[in-house]
Amino acid sequence: MAIIAPSLLASDFLRLDRECKMLNESEADWFHLDVMDGRFVPNISFGLPVIEQITKATEKPCDVHLMILEPERYVEAFKEAGADMISVHIEACVHLHRNIQQIKSLGMKAGVAINPHTPVFLLQDILADIDLVCMMSVNPGFGGQKFIPQTLNKIRELRKMIDADKLDVKIEIDGGITLENAKEVIEAGADVLVAGNTVFKSADPIKTIAALKSM
Ligand code: DX5
Ligand code: ZN
Repeated sequence: MAIIAPSLLASDFLRLDRECKMLNESEADWFHLDVMDGRFVPNISFGLPVIEQITKATEKPCDVHLMILEPERYVEAFKEAGADMISVHIEACVHLHRNIQQIKSLGMKAGVAINPHTPVFLLQDILADIDLVCMMSVNPGFGGQKFIPQTLNKIRELRKMIDADKLDVKIEIDGGITLENAKEVIEAGADVLVAGNTVFKSADPIKTIAALKSM
């Protein structure tokens, strides 16, 4: 059964308390929090003060996806804001190994996020050090985009790499997940599904989460 991580980027920001309560009552496993800096990605989302409030409103693990340059400058602040795991982009980190060690030394789980064009073999020498790969199935920066089909091959390839070395690394797929493609994504080898619009723009988000969970 996959881990379901709704992305609050698609939630109603005016009613964040209700959205958090809904997720708490649902079968959602993690809260996925998308931080954008307007530099690494062409959009700005929300940051520390908002995350600090969200993490207070839930006991579920908070999975922070940093789409920012120089994440090392903010990792400690995100820990203080209540992050349980942090993913940084391979494309944004010159010293990725150091960045991962920093996240782990603060007692959080560490993930590496990769853009659609980034080949999975680039993860080979960091895989044993991380807990999570956040594989982008859209170009990061916006919710509500279409799933890039080539991702399925990348999931299969990464699954092989993880299993060959008997590693405990979760594959998280982020972007364009729908009730139609979720099963295929899980069958390809994904462990975690991020879903923004599919959950929050549906008529009954609790039911939609349950449907994703049962795939
Ligand atoms: C995109 C974000 C995603 C996004 C997913 O940059 O990393 O987490 O919120 O949204 P949907 O599920 O709507 O594609
Ligand atoms: Zn994300």
